[in-house]
Amino acid sequence: MKTQEIFTVVEDELKILNKNLKSMVGARHPILHAASEHLFSAGGKRIRPALVILVAQQTSRNKEISPSHRRLAEITEIIHTASLVHDDVIDECMTRRGVTTVHSLYNNKIAILAGDFLFAQSSWYLANLDNLNVVKTISKVITDFAEGEVRQGMLQFSSHISMNEYIEKSFYKTASLIAASCQGSAMLSNLNHSTQNTYYIYGKHIGLAFQIIDDILDIIGSKQNLGKPTGSDLKNGNLTAPALFTLAEQLELQYLIENEFENDSDVEKAITIICDGQGIKKAKDLAEEHIQTAISSLPQNNFHNEDESLYALVMIGEYILQQI
Ligand code: IPE
Ligand code: IPE
Ligand code: MG
Ligand code: MG
Repeated sequence: MKTQEIFTVVEDELKILNKNLKSMVGARHPILHAASEHLFSAGGKRIRPALVILVAQQTSRNKEISPSHRRLAEITEIIHTASLVHDDVIDECMTRRGVTTVHSLYNNKIAILAGDFLFAQSSWYLANLDNLNVVKTISKVITDFAEGEVRQGMLQFSSHISMNEYIEKSFYKTASLIAASCQGSAMLSNLNHSTQNTYYIYGKHIGLAFQIIDDILDIIGSKQNLGKPTGSDLKNGNLTAPALFTLAEQLELQYLIENEFENDSDVEKAITIICDGQGIKKAKDLAEEHIQTAISSLPQNNFHNEDESLYALVMIGEYILQQI
């Protein structure tokens, strides 16, 4: 299986999802409606719903995807999109998925309300799944976003942050949703507690790897491919894995960061220092370790091409690494 084929496995499901997402965010006020729908229509990789669907195929009888699984996939994408709308306000980011961000199209107030509206809509659909354990698991994620963003905000330009603090923050910001979505999907298939947990662990490590790769792309990527600007983590003082690894070997980087990139060319300079050192490679190695942990935590360890959904869960790791 090639990595693009992961999405072929779930293609039909993602078509249904894209159609449903638009009707699910129906808001009475046209501005709220337009702002909320804006990012759905722009696209996105749909990696979270793809994971929910793959776990559903993997865990349900006869590989059947139930309406609840579908709904959970939609809910995770709505939650993710809400978090992006808020994150772009915090990061002052002007483009997302190749289009203008909600706050730059309207204003910050509308963007905060649109994000809240999406979180609220997701909660309503979540409650309507009528599965208390899934509600408990998924609703915790929204708290975790706030925890992750606040932690990140408190650590800006702090060159002494440890790798552990970075990983914890990334868990709250990103891995928590992916972990909970995978676990929620297994819950809806009525798996026993310990097997549900293995999907949580799988999603957690996939999520951490995903954030590490996103952080590498912010340093080496191009806006065309990403649909969002690059270099913004450093500019905002968010020190991520490549910078943290480089800090240990390069004093000049520490100097630039502690002076909060006071000269116009300082961010560029920092990027060059990071790219010339071992930081990118070490960060990629770290992402690979998390992918390995994710794969080895899957309950089945007999990976073969015939079991499409299992194989796709393994290949998602490859797909993530291939983004860089
Ligand atoms: C972006 O997520 C935010 C991170 C957690 C890194 P994605 O890279 O999944 O964004 P879309 O949904 O494809 O736009
Ligand atoms: C992930 O962090 C944000 C969320 C989980 C909301 P980033 O700030 O790195 O995401 P991008 O790079 O803006 O997509
Ligand atoms: Mg951001
Ligand atoms: Mg990023």
